[in-house]
Amino acid sequence: MWLYLVALVGLYHLVRWHRERQVVSHLRDKYVFITGSGSGFGNLLARQLDMRGLRVLAACRTEKAAEQLRAQTSDRLETVTLDIAKTESITAATQWVKERVGDRGLWGLVNNAGISGPWGRNEWLTKQDFVTTLNVNLLGTIEVTLSLLPLVRKARGRVVNVSSIGGRLSVMGGGYCISKYGVEAFSDSLRRELAHFGVKVAVIEPGSFKTNMTNTERLFQHVQEVWDRARPEIKEVYGEKFLASYFTAISKNRLTTYKENLSEVTDCMEHALTACHPRTRYSAGWDAKLFYLPMSYMPTFLADAILTWGLPRPAKAL
Ligand SMILES: NC(=O)c1ccc[n+]([C@@H]2O[C@H](COP(=O)([O-])OP(=O)(O)OC[C@H]3O[C@@H](n4cnc5c(N)ncnc54)[C@H](OP(=O)(O)O)[C@@H]3O)[C@@H](O)[C@H]2O)c1
Repeated sequence: MWLYLVALVGLYHLVRWHRERQVVSHLRDKYVFITGSGSGFGNLLARQLDMRGLRVLAACRTEKAAEQLRAQTSDRLETVTLDIAKTESITAATQWVKERVGDRGLWGLVNNAGISGPWGRNEWLTKQDFVTTLNVNLLGTIEVTLSLLPLVRKARGRVVNVSSIGGRLSVMGGGYCISKYGVEAFSDSLRRELAHFGVKVAVIEPGSFKTNMTNTERLFQHVQEVWDRARPEIKEVYGEKFLASYFTAISKNRLTTYKENLSEVTDCMEHALTACHPRTRYSAGWDAKLFYLPMSYMPTFLADAILTWGLPRPAKAL
């Protein structure tokens, strides 16, 4: 009995491995548009796909970042400046893409741009803090997708949305996890709708990686700014000691570590764009696979206990 079971599991993995190895043809003719290519995952993916021969259309938030990327890549890679929080910028970038891809359409759209946004305890934040993050991570992603979808449909291509493990488990206060839960929900409905047109939608869920976004000093600065303008009553309830311990918790990334090998993430993105049978979801990093994702299936009381373990207690806690 056990032998049959092991053989069945082995067979399943063998078939899956074989299916996932098949690569789409004519990669050199395919256009891929990546948002947030100025740094981090987006930047590495742009260079990686350029090396592989795809036609990369890299969107950077600033011209300086675009210039730096062009200097490191082939002449085939082209750049455009794009702020995904601004409709007029998205409209201009869409026209720019249209002119390049012509009748071939856009094979790949990678919604990668994002911010950590103002964060801290929910109670320390204002509505505007949530709006700032949601505007980029969620509404920006949605608007870029809606704008470029006709071109993706034409190519029967792929949409790759960068979510986070924070889109499966709300690990901190503020708009970040909310925005990523939104990206997951958007991707789910989009996947079902676009299947009719031969378009595939994949979601990337990285764990913790070392990029500009997770730079500890930046994170400290965000929390400090939010704390500085918090109401006096809030400061009294939590206390300065709480803030100091909170900083320590962030800098240590209490539960896991920030990994340096960004290709663990970009390899998933590349697979989603180039494999004949891409996955629906990709967990990138051991912490995502072995820690956060399993925890998202645990009973809530258990997940809550793990996530709050070792965290400081507010001064006026019961
Ligand atoms: N690092 C992690 O541990 C981690 C984990 C899970 C998910 N993610 C997700 O991975 C994606 C990439 O992040 P990263 O870690 O590679 O961080 P990153 O290096 O900061 O990259 C984010 C990129 O998005 C750009 N961007 C920010 N706001 C934008 C806007 N309004 N319009 C257009 N571009 C904008 C940034 O440009 P500027 O630098 O010019 O602002 C930057 O190039 C994000 O969606 C993030 O949520 C990251």
